[in-house]
Amino acid sequence: MFNREIADLRSGKPIMIFDFKDREGETDLVIPSQFVNTEIIRFFRKQGGGLICTTMKEEIARTLHLPFLDDLYRKFLYQGTRLADASDMKYDKTSSFTVTINHRDTFTGVSDHDRSKTINEFSNFISEMKQLKNDPGVEFSKRFRSPGHVILLIAREGYFSVRKGHTELSTYMVEKAGLIPSATIVETLSDSGKSMSRDEAMEFARSNKLNFIDGSDIVSEWLEDESNG
Ligand code: 5RP
Ligand code: CA
Ligand code: ZN
Repeated sequence: MFNREIADLRSGKPIMIFDFKDREGETDLVIPSQFVNTEIIRFFRKQGGGLICTTMKEEIARTLHLPFLDDLYRKFLYQGTRLADASDMKYDKTSSFTVTINHRDTFTGVSDHDRSKTINEFSNFISEMKQLKNDPGVEFSKRFRSPGHVILLIAREGYFSVRKGHTELSTYMVEKAGLIPSATIVETLSDSGKSMSRDEAMEFARSNKLNFIDGSDIVSEWLEDESNG
């Protein structure tokens, strides 16, 4: 399953992933972070229009000492505040946000060039971190600073047994393609200002010659992978 989509990911072509009609009901553009370039950032911000975010697996976040943002807020915001209380979130129980970063060799960090640089360097860092002798988190902080203009997301360990967001759906697909396990994603918004409906996103996929996958098919494939060990 997903032969075309895996081939796209391996060749650096974006795919589209719809989550679930009883979740966000959104479709994200997805590309492996290692293939992000200035044209992709431009396409994502102009044609996607949502937040451009870059994912990692939870084990990487742990190694880099990167916390979930809501845990960080709960710890450091004024105790009386409800800011990090997500119990009223309509479509999920948890978010996947962690810190934002800029590579230290960027200027403001927001240009297509700067975001592309930060994302590529982040992906390179993940692929090289096993070889590091020192604490990878410390090394990471020598190359990146926070806050920045690239939003990082953490895909929960155990994937869909824990959470079924685009963070997990996209990271799982990139890992399945055998690539550096980090996806860069953006929600697709329509000219009405609303998130594209599934039909609108499918039409967008057709007119841009992109492949489109449903989250439910990804979860079925994962269940099969899990049962085959
Ligand atoms: C960050 C988001 C998006 O919905 C993105 O798809 C990742 O979040 P999730 O894993 O919750 O789907 O909120 O822009
Ligand atoms: Ca969201
Ligand atoms: Zn999403």
